[in-house]
This record gives sequence, C-alpha cells and structure tokens, in this order.
Amino acid sequence: MSVPSHDNISHDYMSSYYFASQQKPLSGSLSVAGDKSISHRAVIFASMAQGVSRIENLLTGEDVLCSMAIMQQLGARITSADDGIVQIQGVGSLGFAEPDNVLDMGNSGTSARLIMGAVASHPIDVFISGDDSLRKRPMSRIATPLSLGGVQSNMRAGKFLPLHLRGAKLPLPIEYESPVASAQIKSALLLYGLNVTGTTSIIEPSLSRNHTEIMLQSFGVDIACEALADGRYQVSLDGVQTLQAQDINVPGDISSAAFLMVAGLIVKGSAITLQHVGLNPTRTGLLEILQQMGADITVQNQRQSGGEQVGDIVVKYSRLKGINVPQDIAPRMIDEYPILAVAASFAEGETLMTGLNELKVKESNRLQSIADGLSLVGVKYELGDDWIKIFGNGQQQVTGQEKDAPAIATHHDHRIAMSFLVMGLCSQRPIYVDETASIATSFPSFFASLTILGAQYLGNNLDKNLGDKT
Ligand code: S3P
Repeated sequence: MSVPSHDNISHDYMSSYYFASQQKPLSGSLSVAGDKSISHRAVIFASMAQGVSRIENLLTGEDVLCSMAIMQQLGARITSADDGIVQIQGVGSLGFAEPDNVLDMGNSGTSARLIMGAVASHPIDVFISGDDSLRKRPMSRIATPLSLGGVQSNMRAGKFLPLHLRGAKLPLPIEYESPVASAQIKSALLLYGLNVTGTTSIIEPSLSRNHTEIMLQSFGVDIACEALADGRYQVSLDGVQTLQAQDINVPGDISSAAFLMVAGLIVKGSAITLQHVGLNPTRTGLLEILQQMGADITVQNQRQSGGEQVGDIVVKYSRLKGINVPQDIAPRMIDEYPILAVAASFAEGETLMTGLNELKVKESNRLQSIADGLSLVGVKYELGDDWIKIFGNGQQQVTGQEKDAPAIATHHDHRIAMSFLVMGLCSQRPIYVDETASIATSFPSFFASLTILGAQYLGNNLDKNLGDKT
C-alpha cells in the first residue's frame, strides 16, 4: 500500500486505522518535521516585525497554517516559494489591523493563546473561535492576566471560546505570577508587553519551554530572564520594542520525534537516526526519562541553530524498565506523556507518572484518553486525580484488539492517535484508532516517516483483506 497522505486518510467515515504488527526492525535515518512551537512563533513574530523575514523548514501542519491565515487576516503578507521557504512581510509595531471576520483557531491552543496576547495591546475588537476540542479548553488563563492591563474579554461561560476581546486603548504593563508553568501564558503576556510602555513581567513556578525568549532575542528584543532561588523563573521586558525581521531555520520537532523514538525502542532489532532535532533543554524531558528506563538513545552532532540547540538522535531497540517519573520534569515533557505511556506499557515493571493536572486541558483530557485507550488494549494501570501508574510486562501485556472491538477514541487529539498507532507496531493483535485526521495538526508526515523507517501501515479495518494480513 502506498504511503497515505492526509488527503486520503482523513475521512472520519472510515472507522479505524492501524499498523501491522512489525515483523522487521525499523532502520534508517530521516529528518523530522519542523517544530510546532517554534514554527508558530516564527510566523507570529515575523508578522509583528518590521521588514521581511524568511523561514526555512517551517512546519506546514494545520495548527501552523492556522496561525499563518490569522496573521494574514491581521495584515501580514505571507508568500511561500518553491524551495519551501516562507517569506513574511510584517506589520511593524502596533500594526495589526482590526479583522473583519472571526479568527478561527481550529484545533490550535498555541495560536489562540499567543495571538490573544499579541492583539491585546492594539485598540481593536477581535472575535475568536475554534474547533470542538479548542472550545473546551480554558482561555481565561490568558484573559484574566490580560485584564490587569485593561484588556476586556467576554468568553462563553466565563472561560471558553468563542470570545470577544477588546484591546486596551491605553494598555498598562502587567506583572503576573502564573499558577502553572505554561509557555502559552508566558508568551501571550510577553507579546502583549512588547507594545506597552513600561515593564511587563511574568513569574512562573518553574521554567516552561523558552522558545519565545530565545526567538524574541533573535528579533532584537531586549528581554531579562532570571531563575529565582526557589525554582521559580521570571521573565520581563520593557515596552515599546520593535522586532526586526529575521531569517529563521526551524529545527525538527522533538515532540514529533518522540513517536519515532519510542517506535525504535519497542520494535525488536531497530536502529534509527533522527536528524536535526531541536534539543532545547526545556523540551528534552522524555529523552532523559527514556534513558533512565534503560533506553539506548544517544545524541550526536550537537550544535546551535538560531539560538536553539539541535542534534541527531540515535535510537536502538532496548529492553525498558519501569521508573517513577519525577513530577518536576512535567513542564519539560508535557506533550510526551501519551507516548511515554506506550513505552511504559512495554517496559518491565511499574511506571508512575505524577503531577499531571495540565494533561487534562490539552487537545483532549489526555490523562483520561490514555487510561481509556490502555483499558481497550489490555494494559493494566491505576488512575488517580493527577497521576497514572502503568504496569508494564513487555509485549505480553499489550494484547491489542479484536477486529470488531471499538476503536480507541482519540477525541481528535493527534498525540493520542499517534501514540496508540505506535503501540500497535508491537501489540499481539492490531490496535485501531477511530480517526487519523487530527495527526495533520502537528505531524503531517507521521505515516510517511514511519513508512520510510520500515513500518507497514495497513489502513482501516473496513477492508477485511488488509485486516487479514496481520
Ligand atoms: C506550547 C506549550 C505547551 C504545549 C503545547 C505547545 C507552546 O502548552 O503543551 O503543545 O508552543 O507554547 P502550555 O504552555 O499550556 O503548557
């Protein structure tokens, strides 16, 4: 079967999708799609800057396309050349125009939250909505601190999209201590502060991903970052500051590489190399945890690119053992818990993951989605309010599913879909997920990448002949 593209796999009426049980080791080397967080920031910052920026290896996942469409609605001019380089002519300081239609953020929490901050310093009215999943995610975590600067927001039920935001006419600088380590909150407030006279300052309980700080500096912004003695982290900037257009090369996404890494670890005999992956220490929690579980993962050719660390990750099949995952690592691997749950299911012994409240407000309630999925494929676990303990037992543990069993509900959450598809490479029977369209939000080349490494995608279980091959 040819490699499915997003276009021919994204039909929800096809009931479920799965990989064949992997008989051959995965092998080979490839570059992973561009980092989603860095791509959003490249698009938004370039759109706010003065001059023309050029962006290489931009992720063309749906979430980033969403940020691009919205920047165009706000006045940025975006073109893409045959060589894949995206050019953005920014609007300059305080240059966003009032949009004449709703800003549709699709599935993208990062677009919604960062753009709320970016527009809030402008004296304009903005209406924002998103898809079913995004409309369930709290936007009050951005609107509440913004109200300290005089920004008015009306949200459905006081915290959800759709919302109406009226930018402050005389915006005041904001000082805010966030109850959660969230790069989206931090970034929204920094983008607001850029166009506001005075010092805007944010404290977070521990350092969340710092791509905003790094990239703002490369756009010429003066920004102060300080690790406080008690583990908290403070970042502040003085407005008004103008961003100067930049050339950016986006590293590969470690959060996408994570699915391939775990695939390489669980498929017997595998040896794969993932090239030019972002290795910012605020994102490498999973890599460290997998190494503690006994994974043979090494990093080669480490270098700097645009202020970000990058390198090549070499992964070899390994027998994993369960561990206690320290709670304080969560902000450094917040998107990786679904795929860690897969690794834990194939490990020997228990893996305990704690401090997972933030998982409940992602593209789905991921803690529940993981647990529900594990129940369907025969993996034993205990679930608490903000923790899960997984009882791994190698391959025996993961039975997979009968062909007519209900498919795993992804709730249109890309990371749930990809995690269980990867699990299916090594389960006793196939593992079916109920849709794969969501994968295009962050990793449109997921199927192509796994296929290059030798995985066999079998399509959907309505096709009995394909199903019988497993
Ligand atoms: C992101 C930050 C994280 C992460 C999300 C992308 C970003 O969310 O889960 O996928 O690009 O800033 P929080 O900042 O809310 O933890």
